[in-house]
Amino acid sequence: MASADRLASWSARARVSTSTWSLTRSSQPTRNLLTHRRPCTDGATRFADVHDYVVTGFPEHPTEGTERVRPSVAVAAATRTLASAGVASARAEAEQLAAHVLGLPRGRLALADGFTADQLDRFDALVDRRSAREPLQHLLGVAPFRYLELAVGPGVFVPRPETELLAGWGIEQGRRLPGGRTVVDLCSGSGAIALSVAHELPGVRVVAVERSPAALPWLRRNAAARAAAGDPPVEVVEADVTDPGLLDGLTGRVDVLLCNPPYVPQRVVVPEEVAHHDPGEAVFGGPDGLAVIRPVIHRAGALLRPGGVLGIEHDDTHGVVVPELLAADGRFTQITAHRDLAGRPRFATAVRSVGADHGVAAVTWQTGSS
Ligand SMILES: C[S@@+](CC[C@H](N)C(=O)[O-])C[C@H]1O[C@@H](n2cnc3c(N)ncnc32)[C@H](O)[C@@H]1O
Repeated sequence: MASADRLASWSARARVSTSTWSLTRSSQPTRNLLTHRRPCTDGATRFADVHDYVVTGFPEHPTEGTERVRPSVAVAAATRTLASAGVASARAEAEQLAAHVLGLPRGRLALADGFTADQLDRFDALVDRRSAREPLQHLLGVAPFRYLELAVGPGVFVPRPETELLAGWGIEQGRRLPGGRTVVDLCSGSGAIALSVAHELPGVRVVAVERSPAALPWLRRNAAARAAAGDPPVEVVEADVTDPGLLDGLTGRVDVLLCNPPYVPQRVVVPEEVAHHDPGEAVFGGPDGLAVIRPVIHRAGALLRPGGVLGIEHDDTHGVVVPELLAADGRFTQITAHRDLAGRPRFATAVRSVGADHGVAAVTWQTGSS
């Protein structure tokens, strides 16, 4: 394809669809100015030239078709596309997608040679999918969580930054205990919490429980990858956390029990990414959002050893009711309500009482994981 045609086709894929494009060679052989003509805003048939697409070529390269689109240019076009599709962090996401396609860390984008035609095709396709509100993490194939990168995709819940607080709290608790600790992560999903505990607290037995047949392969894949990277292996258990006999063999022996259950009340309208791409059973916790939390609290009372600790994430409308459920159970003390970094009620913690503490149920509030 001739250069002008190739560039025109790139520009079309960059969605400046109402424009007519032309390629002007500049006096510098390596820099071409792509000019597009937009209808004037007065609605008349006149056109105005807009020079906003600079393309760098590499004439020293022996093969045809070596023109590359500078990352800053492609990212700017993608940012506009994503922003007009309602993506909140359009610029940051455009940069992440560009870095992904170019196989670079995001911080090195400015130093990249630029997109080849093939790479630009892939980038445009990803921008289209993100504009249709596919989660960024599905497009990248990974989600960051604390010090880890976890494989994610259809069928598994994308771990959220706010859950890092609950995981951090659990890791802190585990660190304070003497050796031989057992940590259980209920509703494990991709394994974000369990694998972070194993990574940050070596020497601890970690058990991850998940029920979903769609999520389990992701959990097993992440667990295998972390073990191969040198972390202590995590035990994956396929089970329903609402089962009254859950993890029977660990009754009274768990030191730290963490859980990020499905907790959104059924009728709440969630963002498109969540509605169409997070599994419903990972998000919604029955009519009031507490359908999994109630049995988990009940079972935690049996699984934890006296003095063992529980941390459970919840909806931001449940900052009062979850501590109340813990208090009403009668087997927990030091019940504490935690806010996330945005100040929203996010998780509750409690200590399994040691007999004499039964019935002590004052709730205190903390912000973050401290
Ligand atoms: C909100 S996601 C949390 C995933 C992961 N812990 C995280 O923080 O990213 C809830 C997870 O619980 C699982 N789940 C829902 N109900 C369950 C049940 N009754 N038993 C076991 N797992 C369940 C879902 O499949 C989903 O993976």
